[in-house]
Amino acid sequence: MSLGMASAARERRVTARSLRLRKGRAPFAMLTAYDHSFAQIFDRAGIDVLLVGDSLGNTVQGRESTLPVTLSEMIYHCEMVSRAARRALVVGDLPFGAYQVSPEQALRSALRMVKEGGVAAVKLEGGEARRESIARITAAEVPVMGHVGLTPQSLHRMGGYRVQGRGAAGRQRVLRDALAVEAAGAFAVVIEGVPAPLAREITGALSIPTIGIGAGADCDGQVLVMHDLLGLSESTPSFARRFAGLGALASQAARAFAEEVAERKFPAPEHCYGE
Ligand code: KIV
Repeated sequence: MSLGMASAARERRVTARSLRLRKGRAPFAMLTAYDHSFAQIFDRAGIDVLLVGDSLGNTVQGRESTLPVTLSEMIYHCEMVSRAARRALVVGDLPFGAYQVSPEQALRSALRMVKEGGVAAVKLEGGEARRESIARITAAEVPVMGHVGLTPQSLHRMGGYRVQGRGAAGRQRVLRDALAVEAAGAFAVVIEGVPAPLAREITGALSIPTIGIGAGADCDGQVLVMHDLLGLSESTPSFARRFAGLGALASQAARAFAEEVAERKFPAPEHCYGE
């Protein structure tokens, strides 16, 4: 590949740098992906960022929270998604316990996500308290996406999955967290579960893109959990929108298969090998 071709290919790929440069231009979409097939579908559909979210604890593993998800489990899923993505930026979520001990631990975990999971950036939750860890990881050449507001790994501190940033003190806290994440060197920040006016204010105050989930329409990008988008979860949170009903389709297909097996209609002659 010539230098010119290599740089053209690089241009097409979404990177932490190119995403950052889109601030204030066209809004972009991020989706969670946990395996090769869906990552390939979303990548080909033009989704800019694939987030291997620790929400896989809920969606894939059927757990009550994301807290039990391990770094090795995240790396396993990151590898599958990274192999599928040709254009999208793949971001791997650092799970609970993989970065809270020290900036050194955060850096080690981030390096494993890149080396073993093949991701091009990592995401971690928290604001002011994570300043040093974000700085340490970015200094080691790994782009970091922040995550403020409703941070699911803070479940026990928050006393449940509650909207954050309400009231003067709450509002100041989320704003300070977002500013700290930017100052520490993050290239983008997820804002989750905060009142829309606060997300708008943060988006205006930061020079890095904000990516909203349950944070109104004024962020630079929006993210959805793929199970909510596709109708694969039992219920859809009020801030999300079900863009398809794949759960119902899958159920229909499984029933039809079982019926045809019971009636000896499947396999038909065209599905059988001859001698
Ligand atoms: O884990 C996840 O899927 C996330 C998104 C909801 C932003 O953190």
